[in-house]
Amino acid sequence: MTIFLPSDTHLNHAAEQLRNGELVAFPTETVYGLGANATDDLAVAKIFEAKNRPSFNPLISHFARLDDVLQHADLNIPSLKLAEAFWPGPLTLIVDRPKRSSISLLASAGQETIALRVPAHPIAQKLLQQCDFPVVAPSANPSGRISPSQASHVLTYLGDKIDIIIEGGACECGLESTVIDCRDETQLRLLRPGPITTEQLSSILGQDIIISEQPAQNIISPGQLASHYAPAAQVRLNVTAPQREEAYLSFNTPASSQADHFCLSQSGDLTEAAANLFRFLHQADACGKDVIAVAPIPNEGIGVAINDRLRRAAAPRT
Ligand code: TXA
Ligand code: MG
Repeated sequence: MTIFLPSDTHLNHAAEQLRNGELVAFPTETVYGLGANATDDLAVAKIFEAKNRPSFNPLISHFARLDDVLQHADLNIPSLKLAEAFWPGPLTLIVDRPKRSSISLLASAGQETIALRVPAHPIAQKLLQQCDFPVVAPSANPSGRISPSQASHVLTYLGDKIDIIIEGGACECGLESTVIDCRDETQLRLLRPGPITTEQLSSILGQDIIISEQPAQNIISPGQLASHYAPAAQVRLNVTAPQREEAYLSFNTPASSQADHFCLSQSGDLTEAAANLFRFLHQADACGKDVIAVAPIPNEGIGVAINDRLRRAAAPRT
């Protein structure tokens, strides 16, 4: 495994390695992704292997631009509106998989849909622009564990399983993209809350299109299993007074000098809390405490996505 600084030469080489079927971890504005050539069955299979990901959990294909997406998918009116408003950015659209697409069937994991995203991060953009194929990229963590919001998390988790990690510092959003099922033009379905809120989606779509938070009967988004994003420690939610033996993630409180106390945002800023969440979960976990207690987080804006990840981190482990 090699860590690459994101020079043009390194990014060209990383794109070449992707073309050759190797795995490359790279930064996006949400979290680090573990990339593979989406049109190469063997490369896609390597991702499932490296992450120990259940074979029924599909992968998101990443593209440099909307025009590249349109080679592989037909977007209906609402999905096109969303793509134009929020791409490049932290939004994933689920659409039917047309026969002409060369995206590996493995990426769809048995479903008849594909997941599409155009990330905004300048390094992801440069890398994808060098690739004349889509790149599948799940979060670069072992299945079920906390997503990586910096390169060192990827190194710790998957360093021995992948070829290249591109160093890009801390991810700006820190939470995975919003995932929305766009197949029914009149009723879009939110499959995973994320940095783009339902309010933002609705403001683009207008009144006539409903965004349902209930998945359709005929679609499953297996990444939404109850237990996910789990640290090794147990997680206890809505705690205002942590026990002495617990690590603590606070919100809207002054900084603490205690080594096992992390403040998601001293000023109560939810965007800052989202960006810090996975990093502090990783750090709190490294303290070796049995329990990580977490303060209540307001359930508005990106707070909805933070609470979604926290509930899964706290869910009984399978
Ligand atoms: O921000 C992100 O989306 C990051 C970065 C790297 O782009 N990627 C990411 O991928 O979070 P992953 O694999 O960790 O999560 C993808 C989620 C999972 O919940 C998966 O089940 C769902 O999207 N998904 C992918 N393809 C799908 C499909 N065809 N139908 C329904 N859900 C799908
Ligand atoms: Mg993931």
